[in-house]
Amino acid sequence: MYTPRQLDRTRQLAYTHTGITLSANKDVMIANRLDKLKRSLNHDDVDAILTSIERGENIEIFVSALTTNKTNFFRESFHFDDLKERVVKQSITNGEGLKIYCSAASTGEEPYSILMTIESAKEEYDAPMLNYSLIATDIDNEVLNHAAHGIYEWSKSEDDFPHWIRPSNYFKRKQHPSRDGDYLIKIKEPLRRKVVFDTMNLMSQTYPFKAAEFDVVFCRNVLIYFNTLDQNTILKKLFRTLKIGGTLYIGHSESVLDLIPFVERYGQNIFIKTKEFS
Ligand SMILES: C[S@@+](CC[C@H](N)C(=O)[O-])C[C@H]1O[C@@H](n2cnc3c(N)ncnc32)[C@H](O)[C@@H]1O
Repeated sequence: MYTPRQLDRTRQLAYTHTGITLSANKDVMIANRLDKLKRSLNHDDVDAILTSIERGENIEIFVSALTTNKTNFFRESFHFDDLKERVVKQSITNGEGLKIYCSAASTGEEPYSILMTIESAKEEYDAPMLNYSLIATDIDNEVLNHAAHGIYEWSKSEDDFPHWIRPSNYFKRKQHPSRDGDYLIKIKEPLRRKVVFDTMNLMSQTYPFKAAEFDVVFCRNVLIYFNTLDQNTILKKLFRTLKIGGTLYIGHSESVLDLIPFVERYGQNIFIKTKEFS
């Protein structure tokens, strides 16, 4: 059990370092995260831990313990159908390349799903010369490390792939099964090299991208952790990096808020930028 004071200090620190807003009904979740933090630091005194974080120590471990990293391959698969059927097709027709940004990449399933989609579309549309790049960021270095290694458990993933993806094209089976006997799969090196992973806090004042840099921005299932004011601020900063005509994908329970007059809704949480935010 944690005291109301300990829960409040955690709430404050979570907001300061990640922007994540933990409301009063999240006490059980905060307690679970504090348990994880104690295990990670191998330390039992939660007050001492919170004091160290308030002093600016152990921030990376704290962020890792506080974030929710749930994800899977081809989550909300209609976004990948749209990427393949509309976005990639258009870019082949226009003879232009594609620059994509994935802003809450977690353990990598989302950015690798983007890559598999584009590679599979290139093959299907016989467009081997299509140029594209993908930048994937997250605030949590631990999940980014996992993403960079690209190793996953097959049984947890096998039902995730749409019928038009042949996993054996993109994964190799690791020789050694995981501890529970499940097979591990590893992203093949040529695909892995097509994504650049980096750490970025969406709450940062400025983003390291140019205006109108991207054709596509993925910002899925992360806005829900922020308050409405911060969601709007983040959306506007992301929107600035998107070209006119570019596509923004957000999660199923998220909304574009103040951006509504500046986008065309194309499908389920698929938005096309029609004009600059003013
Ligand atoms: C629930 S996962 C969603 C992953 C993926 N986008 C998806 O839809 O499956 C949310 C991710 O957002 C990241 N995150 C939380 N706060 C963040 C912030 N302030 N800046 C960047 N990423 C953040 C977490 O570390 C976590 O990996």
